[in-house]
Amino acid sequence: MSNGLHNRVALITGAGAGIGQAAAIALASAGAAVGIHYHSTEAGARQTLREIEAFGGRAYLLPADLTVEAEANAVVDSLVQHASRLDILVNNAGSPVRMVRLEECPTDLWRRAFDVNVTSAFWVTRRAIPHLRESGHGSIINNLTMSIQTGGSGGAGPYAAAKGALQVMTRTLARELAPQVRVNAVMPGVIETRHHETYSTPAKMDDYRKQTPLGRNGRAEEVAEVVVFLASDAAKFMTGALLDVNGGRFLR
Ligand SMILES: NC(=O)c1ccc[n+]([C@@H]2O[C@H](COP(=O)([O-])OP(=O)(O)OC[C@H]3O[C@@H](n4cnc5c(N)ncnc54)[C@H](OP(=O)(O)O)[C@@H]3O)[C@@H](O)[C@H]2O)c1
Repeated sequence: MSNGLHNRVALITGAGAGIGQAAAIALASAGAAVGIHYHSTEAGARQTLREIEAFGGRAYLLPADLTVEAEANAVVDSLVQHASRLDILVNNAGSPVRMVRLEECPTDLWRRAFDVNVTSAFWVTRRAIPHLRESGHGSIINNLTMSIQTGGSGGAGPYAAAKGALQVMTRTLARELAPQVRVNAVMPGVIETRHHETYSTPAKMDDYRKQTPLGRNGRAEEVAEVVVFLASDAAKFMTGALLDVNGGRFLR
């Protein structure tokens, strides 16, 4: 069984940095042509493109604010126009937006958390489904979070609730799209990206390390490798699975 993704086309949302960037590079290394979606991180997206082109891979830059339905649709349309097909969709874009306890969460922030983390993925996915069905190897991978299980800490409640909705969307789509399209998810623990530069203090990152049986926080590339596995034929009997990538955090 191989991870070869030659002749497949993948769309990765939020591929200008962090886990999305690593996933785009890893999928391209496995042979896929990739659509590099980004919103505000154009320089990072161009860096992703350069890295892929440097090893002879094929990639396309796709700018969009995915909280706008027409832009979310256009990302899919534009990739299919350039690459003629779509086989793999990685719904990676997402963000806590702002940390706030639920009892103090203003309505606009609650709505924004859902727009950024789940409605965006819903729009992209809905547009992608006909192409994924046609593919013969259609695969969707959603990027969730460990806080779906633990509850959002430190004000991550709106984010965790929205990712919880994305988890239910994952399993619902796994039912609705079988057998043509597989739908799985990764549930990362603490991965050292700018997400934590924004939302966690260095002391908090140390705490997380101490709470992790494997003794460290994760790297974006370690989530990306699991994404490639789920996208590949090596996972062809897997759908509706939620894979923990958290260094053993749930062992305690
Ligand atoms: N790091 C962790 O510990 C961890 C743990 C669990 C889950 N995750 C999830 O992993 C994913 C990637 O996070 P990361 O850690 O790699 O951090 P990140 O660099 O902050 O990634 C967030 C991504 O979401 C995109 N995004 C945000 N708002 C958007 C919008 N309105 N429209 C389109 N794209 C938008 C960003 O694109 P631009 O930068 O181009 O604006 C960026 O690529 C997120 O869904 C996050 O929730 C991360």
